[in-house]
Amino acid sequence: MTTDTAAQAAYVVAALLFILSLAGLSQHKTSRSGVVWGIAGMVVALAATVGLASRSITATGLVLIAVATAVGAGIGLWRARVVEMTGMPELIAIMHSLVGLAAAFVGWNGYLDVDAELSGSLLGIHHAEVFIGVFIGAVTFTGSVVAYLKLSARINSRPLTLPGKHVLNVGALVAFVGLTVAFVVRPNMGLLIAVTVIALALGAHLVASIGGGDMPVVVSMLNSYSGWAAAASGFLLSNNLLIVTGALVGSSGAYLSYIMCKAMNRSFLSVIAGGFGTPAAAADDGEQGEHREINAEETAELLRDATSVIITPGYGMAVAQAQYPVAELARKLRDRGVEVRFGIHPVAGRLPGHMNVLLAEANVPYDIVLEMDEINDDFAATSVVLVIGANDTVNPAATDNPSSPIAGMPVLHVWESAHVIVFKRSMAAGYAGVQNPLFFRENTQMLFGDARQRVEDILRGLDALDAPVREMAGTSR
Ligand code: TAP
Repeated sequence: MTTDTAAQAAYVVAALLFILSLAGLSQHKTSRSGVVWGIAGMVVALAATVGLASRSITATGLVLIAVATAVGAGIGLWRARVVEMTGMPELIAIMHSLVGLAAAFVGWNGYLDVDAELSGSLLGIHHAEVFIGVFIGAVTFTGSVVAYLKLSARINSRPLTLPGKHVLNVGALVAFVGLTVAFVVRPNMGLLIAVTVIALALGAHLVASIGGGDMPVVVSMLNSYSGWAAAASGFLLSNNLLIVTGALVGSSGAYLSYIMCKAMNRSFLSVIAGGFGTPAAAADDGEQGEHREINAEETAELLRDATSVIITPGYGMAVAQAQYPVAELARKLRDRGVEVRFGIHPVAGRLPGHMNVLLAEANVPYDIVLEMDEINDDFAATSVVLVIGANDTVNPAATDNPSSPIAGMPVLHVWESAHVIVFKRSMAAGYAGVQNPLFFRENTQMLFGDARQRVEDILRGLDALDAPVREMAGTSR
């Protein structure tokens, strides 16, 4: 068997392992094995690629590849070990930016180092691949950098609304098509520089134009772009595995974006076009009346007398790492005969499935963790709702204020219950930058402070309420 045949066979094995990995990652229970399949696929892919390259690379080249692999793997391991769960979205965004940058470099390299054997229509196809690869790569690069800056709160998450923003986006796409034709007919560096600059500006503008509430779709969309950028590099490098893997990432990312758009009642096309068609609503983060406060002891009393409780966690639970005391509170209340369930919004937190992962980590039973659609009709018959660090996902403005930036996004109808207790540190707005009218409703009370500390205070409060009962039971024996 030649090295080439062996490498192609290894690529097929790696592609199958990646497909198994995607299948595994689609469910909680199998997600660990999904990660293991992915690692195995990547090891096979790297070994086959280096084996294939070793035919035409000098010993120094191989040493350089080994050093680059070791440095990259070292940085990857270090970042993965130190990253907080709350920092995952921005880590993913910056990783996507690297894929985009690599694709743009591969494209440039394809222009500077053209295979001498290519001629006629094949050369034309090669130049089209170069142009498209650079374009997708550069859009992905700056789009992901802006997403990183927004997700890590280094820049404001509000949408940028330049005058004529849609004309700018469409103009950039038209210019890209025109320049591609010109480049295929007469390739030159000036055109390649022009498309690189246009793509860098377009990527930054597309993501900057999208509001905080729509960022989940942007993250999965950039994931998809990074896949297509990798596939474009695969065509340029004649690497079948890169084409297959890029297409897997590209299509699964596109499908995830579609699911997210459906969950958030957003038009897929409007979000990928940088918020096209969404009203340029003014963000409103001012206070909207008087709010009422409650303390942990009073909350414990309310919970003692409750018959049914729904907990709706959000990003603040992740920040506070409150899932452990929250799980303990759920256990305690259930032991007392209270019906306790969790209501999970599809974009609560900063990652798809963020809350489910945290609750699973704290051993909350799966059967009391319900999706938004499964629980939304039950709030009206619920005694107490504990909103733990959630904000945008419980904002009634989404349903009753058509000019709100989050109008139309389905939310958890927590306000329909008898009592709503909101755990947060201040009256600050949520991720989308809009104030929440829930905080000013008659049946809502604010429990200020770090969510973890407040839930621990409530646990102590419940113990204190139980103490006299325990003492009486002790003396009557
Ligand atoms: P957010 O709207 O982000 O609000 C979180 C709240 O938690 C804040 O109002 C904050 O208020 C509070 N908080 C922060 N740290 C806290 C702590 N230590 N203790 C107590 N409270 C704390 O939360 P959400 O309802 O989960 O909504 C998620 C938002 O993120 C949506 O807009 C969604 O579109 C967006 N997003 C989601 C994703 C995915 S895929 N899930 C990705 C990107 C963006 P204080 O500062 O006053 O404490």
